[in-house]
Amino acid sequence: MIGDFTYCNPTKLYFGKNALNGLNEELPKYGKNVLLVYGGGSIKKNGIYDKVVEILKANGKEIYEDAGVMPNPTVEKLYEGCERAKKAKADLILAVGGGSVCDYAKAVSISVDCKEDPWEKYYIRFEDVDNKIIPVGCVLTMVGTGSEMNGGAVITNHAQKLKIGHVFGENVFPKFSILNPEFTYTLPKYQMTAGFFDIMSHILEQYFSGNDDNTSDYVMEGLLRSLIHSAEIAVNNPTDYEARSNIMWTATWALNTFVAKGKATDWEVHMLGQAVGAHTDATHGMTLSAVSLPYYRHILPYGLAKFKRYAINVWNIDPAGKSDEETALAGLDAMEKWMRKIGLVMNISELGVTEEMIDGIVKSTLIMQGGYKVLTSEEVRDILKASL
Ligand code: NZQ
Ligand code: ZN
Repeated sequence: MIGDFTYCNPTKLYFGKNALNGLNEELPKYGKNVLLVYGGGSIKKNGIYDKVVEILKANGKEIYEDAGVMPNPTVEKLYEGCERAKKAKADLILAVGGGSVCDYAKAVSISVDCKEDPWEKYYIRFEDVDNKIIPVGCVLTMVGTGSEMNGGAVITNHAQKLKIGHVFGENVFPKFSILNPEFTYTLPKYQMTAGFFDIMSHILEQYFSGNDDNTSDYVMEGLLRSLIHSAEIAVNNPTDYEARSNIMWTATWALNTFVAKGKATDWEVHMLGQAVGAHTDATHGMTLSAVSLPYYRHILPYGLAKFKRYAINVWNIDPAGKSDEETALAGLDAMEKWMRKIGLVMNISELGVTEEMIDGIVKSTLIMQGGYKVLTSEEVRDILKASL
């Protein structure tokens, strides 16, 4: 490990088939008013809503609802959520859904008592929270973002063509999260596989930075191998509990600050993907899958040693008789084969991007400093064109 750090992850996890019972332990810690936040209705169809409401009632809670959180939650919805939470005098915000619902719940929790426009304060000026925060708990139904155990809250502003993620400190992490792999069985295949790639991307964004001898890299290689293996099983049999539970656990550890320790971290794939998302409202994981290979093939010469290590340790490429570059490229070819096999979106035109939109997407792409190559705007344009 390099450098000094402090480490604390305050989120309590309840994992497994009976995880929802954890609500009975957590709810008594909070006041009477619960704002129940959820999305477009999947939890009503698959029965999770009824189960949660039953436990809330059994614990004597007053339930206020905030439904209709859309994938890629918008700033307008955030303002609406603040009003609802205020009216409810919410003592706890309970998010039941995927990353969008969990992110939104966190954004509301810090914005209700914010004296300024939260979009300006948190997403344009990236300021910390200096007001009261309503506690948040999550019941996760879609795996990928890691939102269940981190301080991330991504909000989209369509008018400004910006999709911005602010990674807040541990005061914004959920107080508890309920992780039952069976709750993810009803996900459509498109969402399920998008989540798988989101996990892979979170790991790679942290792995492809630095060339030191870092414990975090060894952990990430293990997480990647588990994900690659389990994803293929889950695609063929979505109700394979072992595979779905491994993936759920991998997703949490991929982005809960643990593997970032000692790493510079990159996040340029997410900046490209979020810019595509700001212009198309496409599914997050698919925006990442569509830009990743053009990006990694572009930066490979600048991080050759790590790309070679990735090929050997993650994709079992035999380096014998190959140059370092050939080995590294073979690793990315193996990754591409796996991506196609599980049915990921491989280009941004499939997400609605046309050549005429590229300039706007370049403008919406933030440039990061921690990867192997700090991109110029021209390089961003080239990568997006190669992703078309
Ligand atoms: O809205 P409902 O009807 O619930 O349907 C959702 C939604 O349409 C559906 N779904 C969720 N669970 C389901 C289900 N359908 C059937 N059965 C279930 N069990 O899935 C769709 C997508 O849900 P969403 O929450 O949008 O997906 P995801 O978890 O991928 O979250 C995406 C958001 O998280 C942000 C993304 O940018 C995006 O806004 N991210 C958050 C991060 C963080 N907090 O650290 C990091 C990530 O990189 C990411 O940026
Ligand atoms: Zn992501």
